Parts: sequence; structure tokens; C-alpha cells
Amino acid sequence: MSAPLRIAVLASGRGSNFAALLAARERGELSVEFVLVASDKADAPVLQLAQSAGIPTTVLNPREYTDRRAYDFALFDRIGASKPDLLVLAGFMRIIDGEALKPWAGRMINIHPSLLPKYRGLHTHRRALKAGDLEHGASVHYVTAELDGGPVIAQAALTIEAGDDENTLATRLLPLEHQLLPAVVALIATGRLALDDEGIQLDNEPLRKPLRWQKGILAP
Ligand code: GAR
Repeated sequence: MSAPLRIAVLASGRGSNFAALLAARERGELSVEFVLVASDKADAPVLQLAQSAGIPTTVLNPREYTDRRAYDFALFDRIGASKPDLLVLAGFMRIIDGEALKPWAGRMINIHPSLLPKYRGLHTHRRALKAGDLEHGASVHYVTAELDGGPVIAQAALTIEAGDDENTLATRLLPLEHQLLPAVVALIATGRLALDDEGIQLDNEPLRKPLRWQKGILAP
């Protein structure tokens, strides 16, 4: 049996998506090793979660660096030292410098609370409501230099109900995120999913459109 996939998580806040990864691992659904949780915020609750689980943490404060690029190179240097196979952005609320992430191309994924390519950036729930969308959701994608613009691996969707507001949408979407992210990580951990020069490959076939989280599985 090959060694478990080594994962570093980057997160800025609450860490519920990280907790979902931990829980999936506990249930035996993810054969991975969490080698580091890195944050830009010293008081991020995600750090407590990691420490309670015995996972190493590190914090780099952006204010201590001259600019974004200097920060990002320092951050990825620190992360690289723990030799991860995969970087998972789980609520990491910073834009990453394109040069700094180049060495991680194909080895970094992000969860974003919209049905990409809709609503890159912030306030996704508000924007979906304002646009009168009937459907909203979350996406897991490979990270490229383009903000929230990398190839989308999988999505989970929900119907927007009359009376939904930003809070109700976020609250109903979060449990879907918690299923979607571990399911995608499991595909990578089992070697079924990868990104190469041709795009996303699933079971050695090009993935022509994002997978959908439906009835508890990732479906084509
Ligand atoms: C999640 O909803 C995630 O999709 C979003 O931040 C939240 C983090 O929650 N990510 C982004 O907006 C990235 N642009 P968590 O800290 O509880 O996992």
C-alpha cells in the first residue's frame, strides 16, 4: 500500500471545512495525513482544532512582510518544509501571488462558496440572491493565478427558496461544503483525480464538466 497523501491546510477562520476533513479521516473515508495547518490569523479557531487533533500549526502575519509576494513566498516556503503532496485552501481568505503558487500548480485546491464561474471573490451568497438565481452552491477547484478561476473539479448545488437571505443560504450550503470537500480530497488521495497539461483527469479520462455532489456521491 502506498503512503497516505500528505496534506497541508491553509485557513483563515472558523475551520469547519477542515473539521469535516478531519471527521472524514476519523470515519476511515480518507486515507491522508495532515502535516500542517497554516493560517494568516493568529486567533483563527482552525488553529485550535488542529492543535486538539495533534496536527502541527503555523501562523504567518501578513503585516510582517513588505508585500503580498514576499508574504506568499515565505508562507509557501514554510509549508513546503512539511513536504505536503496537496495543499487544501479551506476558507483561506487571501489572494495568492501567481508566481508564489506556480510550484504548486496541480497540487493546490480551494473550496469556494459559489457555482463557479459565477461569483468569484467575496459576498457570493449576496450576489446570487441579488441576481435572482434559482440555484446556488459551492465549488472545489484547482488553484491557478486567476482568482477563483482554476479548473473546477466538483460542485454541490442547492435551490434558492423564497425568503432565503445571506444567512440562511450560507447555513444551508455549509453542510454541502462539508461533504463536497472530503469527497474531492478522497479522489485525489486514491490517485483517481489529477490535473495535467491537458486539464483535469479522472480515472485517466479527461473530466469534461465538473462532477456534481448528488445523493451522497460525486456523479458525472
Ligand atoms: C467556507 O464557506 C468556504 O467556502 C469559504 O469560506 C468559508 C470558510 O468556512 N471560502 C471562501 O470564501 C474562499 N474564497 P470554514 O472556515 O468554516 O471552513
